[in-house]
Amino acid sequence: MTPDPNVTPDQNEASPTPDHWFETVADHLGAAYLRYSFTKGTEQEVAFLVDVLDLGPGARVLDVGCGPGRHAHALGRRGIEVVGVDISRRFVELARSGAPPGVRFERADARELAFDAEFDAALSLCQGAFGLVGAGPGTGSAAAVDPDGVVLAGMARAVRPGGVVAVSAFSSYFQVGYLEDADTFDADRGVNHELTSVRNEAGEERPVDLWTSCFTPRELRLLAVGAGLQVEHLWSVTPGAYHRDPPRLDRPEFLLVARRPAL
Ligand SMILES: C[S@@+](CC[C@H](N)C(=O)[O-])C[C@H]1O[C@@H](n2cnc3c(N)ncnc32)[C@H](O)[C@@H]1O
Repeated sequence: MTPDPNVTPDQNEASPTPDHWFETVADHLGAAYLRYSFTKGTEQEVAFLVDVLDLGPGARVLDVGCGPGRHAHALGRRGIEVVGVDISRRFVELARSGAPPGVRFERADARELAFDAEFDAALSLCQGAFGLVGAGPGTGSAAAVDPDGVVLAGMARAVRPGGVVAVSAFSSYFQVGYLEDADTFDADRGVNHELTSVRNEAGEERPVDLWTSCFTPRELRLLAVGAGLQVEHLWSVTPGAYHRDPPRLDRPEFLLVARRPAL
């Protein structure tokens, strides 16, 4: 399809050659993504983040890899201004529908964030971009570059001096400890490959490959320092059950909270 030059790229139909493997997954899933149990804890996660990050009405938040916008919408309902970015056109479309006032969405690649000191906080939750750029079609030679560091550095630049960055990232300890038959863990890259199937809104099943980068707390701290951030917290969390728990082996995710130094 030839893109219409009169509209911005994200207003055009799905690209015949996706920029990232998750776009194909999202195209099939559509709104059925929000049926997955891991999406059901949005309100708890947002209440926790609003408290920890001290986000009041009027705060400006960037949500990187926002998916269909569940966190952005919940933040917007609290009077927080949100810009959500995602590489999936399908998810950006879904996120735009029913968005509260002050919440907007753009199709953008988290590896090329162009925001400059515009936000009080930047989030990437549930492997939202941070954690999905380490391997698979459209991610290049992950062994040769530092894709997660690139995403984190873009988020660090996006917040004002004194602003805060929060990412949830899958735990290497948990992934390896609970490896299933469908999983193949790449010990070199720290990326888990899973062959699974997903259902669309009509219930039609399709096999998909998923590549999830996994992290230890030490890696997350080093990545944050490399992005010029000061680590404030590193907790073990479960979707829908974000608490101030120290890192442990039996929780699926870590939540990193790190601050851009004030001037
Ligand atoms: C598992 S979903 C999480 C979505 C949302 N944060 C949530 O909690 O429901 C991961 C999201 O990251 C997006 N993503 C992956 N790589 C990306 C990239 N390079 N730039 C922007 N978004 C990306 C995917 O399209 C997908 O919507």
